[in-house]
Amino acid sequence: MEFKYLNEQIIAEIKKCRERFPLKEQCIIPALHKILDVYRDIPQEAIEELSEYLQVPLADIEGIVTFYDMFRYRKNAKNHIRICRNLPCHLARYQNILEMIKKKTGADIGKNSPDGKWYIELVECIGSCGIAPAFLINDDLYDGSKIKTEEDIEEILGRYE
Ligand code: FES
Repeated sequence: MEFKYLNEQIIAEIKKCRERFPLKEQCIIPALHKILDVYRDIPQEAIEELSEYLQVPLADIEGIVTFYDMFRYRKNAKNHIRICRNLPCHLARYQNILEMIKKKTGADIGKNSPDGKWYIELVECIGSCGIAPAFLINDDLYDGSKIKTEEDIEEILGRYE
C-alpha cells in the first residue's frame, strides 16, 4: 500500500507500537505524536491514511485529534495563515495581528475556522523581519506594521473569500 503522508518514520513508529500493544487502537496516539513531529500539525490526509493503515474508523481518530489540544489539526482549510512569532515580530507585537485575525476568521492557532475557510499557524522566522510583524496568507506576504485596524485586516481577508 502506498501512502503519501505516512512516511517510513511514521510507519516504523506504528510497527514498533504494534509489537508492544495488543490493540491497534492503542497505537493511534503514538502515531499522532509522530505525525505531529514530522509535520508540526496533523494534516487531514495523514489521519485518513492512518485510519486506512490501522483499519480503525476515521471518526475515531478525528475524535482523538479534536479532543486533545496538543494535536493541531489541519483540516484542509481553504486558506492557510502563517504568522511569525520570532523575536523581531514578537517585539513588533505580532499578537495584535493574531488577535484581529482570530476575531475576524473565527479560527484559532492550530484549529480551522468553523466555516473551514481559515487555518492559523504560528511559525518561526519567515525571512521578512524588515516588515515585522510579518505574516503569510497562502503564498502572499504581508507587512503587519501597515495594519492598524480591524478594517485593514478585514479588507485583506476579503481578498481570499
Ligand atoms: S522574525 Fe518574523 S519574519 Fe523574521
